[in-house]
Amino acid sequence: MSGEGKLRTAHRIIIGDSRRMEEVGDRTIHLVVTSPPYPMIEMWDELFSSLNPEIEGALLNEDGALAYSLMNKELDKVWKEVDRVLTTGGIVCINVGDATRKIGGAFQLYPNHSSIIHRFEEMNYQVLPPIIWRKQTNKPNKYMGSGMLPSNAYVTLEHEYILIFRKGGNRSFDPEERENRRKSAYFWEERNVWFSDIWTDLKGISQEMGNDDLRERSAAYPFELAYRLISMYSIQGDTVLDPFLGTGTTIQAAVHTGRNSIGYELYAGFMKVIEDRIAEFRDVSRELAADRLERHAQFVEKRQAEKGNMKHRSLKYGFPVMTGQEKNILFPVVKRIERIEEGEFEVEYSHEVK
Ligand SMILES: C[S@@+](CC[C@H](N)C(=O)[O-])C[C@H]1O[C@@H](n2cnc3c(N)ncnc32)[C@H](O)[C@@H]1O
Repeated sequence: MSGEGKLRTAHRIIIGDSRRMEEVGDRTIHLVVTSPPYPMIEMWDELFSSLNPEIEGALLNEDGALAYSLMNKELDKVWKEVDRVLTTGGIVCINVGDATRKIGGAFQLYPNHSSIIHRFEEMNYQVLPPIIWRKQTNKPNKYMGSGMLPSNAYVTLEHEYILIFRKGGNRSFDPEERENRRKSAYFWEERNVWFSDIWTDLKGISQEMGNDDLRERSAAYPFELAYRLISMYSIQGDTVLDPFLGTGTTIQAAVHTGRNSIGYELYAGFMKVIEDRIAEFRDVSRELAADRLERHAQFVEKRQAEKGNMKHRSLKYGFPVMTGQEKNILFPVVKRIERIEEGEFEVEYSHEVK
């Protein structure tokens, strides 16, 4: 990112194994936003078994405890790499759900969120308050166990966690970063929703991928989830990493928030899915900024009708804002995208929304 308000970002998709992220330097990443394959969820059995064949053996022997522990050991290798590449004051946001499974005749919970928290505690991270988001299941047979008869029925899991960790103490900002931080402010009314501990308003993922195999492999999270986390925990010009990139939702959100990004994905088939979306980025980016502005305008109208005029105004756009911290808000709107080579592209921005 250069001075004079000109924002440019670079993005890189690496088809490779994030247990060794050789392409990423020590302490070069400001934020990690990711969702790993969830241990003990059946759709990931094959992948975990390919990472360590002992996992396949444990599953065949119906040894749930061993399989769970071995799966987490594979994830731990990635968390260790995340620790190497993250800068001091950097943040890690991990979206994960717990698993329920009947194995060896016993039904039980495999508490993925708690295993990951434990791991980050061991690495001396500060554990910050997590977010729980509601992920509705419409399956008719979603309730398990003994039906209307007590006491062998089980609660259905319809939420996932966003675990949030910080490396070292609070981040410090140099003068250029301080300026970017002010431009990266979010609206007061967005803060009130984004920083609440339960999100109930995230829409499911639109699975536009026609290919069944790809859809099955994706387990993508909603775009809004990545967009919010990046906006909440990094500033324009930062670099965001996703070691489990999947369909590239994190990279997409990084483009639209004016952050650089790097993603690792084992499965090469996702490269095309991500590259095919690049062409849409300009239009999507303008729509996203316009939507945010529209929602803000509605908020302002209602608020001013109830409480009178707001004291502050956006310097660039002229609309009223609640606090002085929002005065410098600049929306990064994609102006030009240049494909450098397969999996690598650069983005240039303007701040004009209309
Ligand atoms: C839960 S999905 C991520 C979905 C992603 N958040 C999205 O929105 O599309 C996990 C992804 O991690 C990939 N993966 C698993 N282990 C990996 C590893 N060691 N290195 C790189 N990618 C890995 C899987 O192939 C899968 O696509």
